[in-house]
Amino acid sequence: MTKKWTADEIPSQEGRIAIVTGSSSGIGEEAAKVLAGKGAEVVIAVRNNKKGEAAKSRILKAFPTAKLEVMQLDLADLASVRKFADEFKAKYGRLDLLVNNAGVMVPPYSKTKDGFELQFGTNHLGHFTLTSRLFEMLEKTVGSRVVNVSSIAHHRGNLDFDDLNWESRSYAPWSAYGDSKIANLYFTRELARRSSANGSDVKITAAHPGWTATDLQRHSGIADFLNGFLAMPVQKGALPTLRAAVDEDADNASYYGPDGLREMWGFPVQVQPNDRAKDPEIAKRLWNVSEEMTDEKFLS
Ligand SMILES: NC(=O)c1ccc[n+]([C@@H]2O[C@H](COP(=O)([O-])OP(=O)(O)OC[C@H]3O[C@@H](n4cnc5c(N)ncnc54)[C@H](OP(=O)(O)O)[C@@H]3O)[C@@H](O)[C@H]2O)c1
Repeated sequence: MTKKWTADEIPSQEGRIAIVTGSSSGIGEEAAKVLAGKGAEVVIAVRNNKKGEAAKSRILKAFPTAKLEVMQLDLADLASVRKFADEFKAKYGRLDLLVNNAGVMVPPYSKTKDGFELQFGTNHLGHFTLTSRLFEMLEKTVGSRVVNVSSIAHHRGNLDFDDLNWESRSYAPWSAYGDSKIANLYFTRELARRSSANGSDVKITAAHPGWTATDLQRHSGIADFLNGFLAMPVQKGALPTLRAAVDEDADNASYYGPDGLREMWGFPVQVQPNDRAKDPEIAKRLWNVSEEMTDEKFLS
């Protein structure tokens, strides 16, 4: 039987700087905690500073010497994303790891500050913009990496390029969530392709946490109810993200998820997105459209 990958496999992260988006709770907080416990300096990038400070206190309880800073980042507001990136670059000289983890799932229909459907805008376009603004710094940092957090729900994703903001169809929250999560995978694959074509040594990976009990399910009554019986604890649910972040053997564009039934539970292994998520033409199209929507160009 092959050995199960756990957080014990993570080498020292001393001297490394990581940003984890959405680390005020759930998988992001757990990933920030583990990375900080291994010696990384971690920026807790959150939309709600109070929640971020509370997460920082919890991490400090476990690791009193952890190096942590809470910084404001609202992915549903591109001005906030750009401000965060400017402030980070002014303060830090390097970026070893960017974990694009934050996400919303099946909220009632609403829009971001810039007028994008909330899930597509937050989960994909916000992270597209953040990565764009930080990419030069990642390129200057030897051995740096970007991890995008997707989901099994990418199987429901099927982007309608004529209506990415759900303005001319009736809003289907699960489909919109699936769209945002397949977008995370197109972004991973196209970013990896462009990055290596550019001669860059930044590694791009993706992960999904199977089914993990967090606040994410708060808008979905049934999933929230079943959390207590069926979902993995967050310590285990964060492992695919952590493996995608540190595994030396990870290939560019590789994708990690749990090894159990339907990838819902278990220990992290390399998994495969579905065929639609591997379509390079859709990935290119999404990249171009994302550039237009955000007015953000990189690796073009
Ligand atoms: N849990 C699962 O079973 C599961 C399954 C598949 C994929 N995922 C993915 O895993 C990732 C983490 O989710 P989780 O399960 O840990 O849920 P969570 O506990 O709800 O964490 C989500 C985080 O994202 C943050 N966030 C939401 N909107 C934001 C915005 N506009 N700007 C900045 N941060 C924002 C939240 O901040 P607040 O604290 O302010 O709300 C929170 O810190 C998500 O990408 C999710 O799609 C989770």
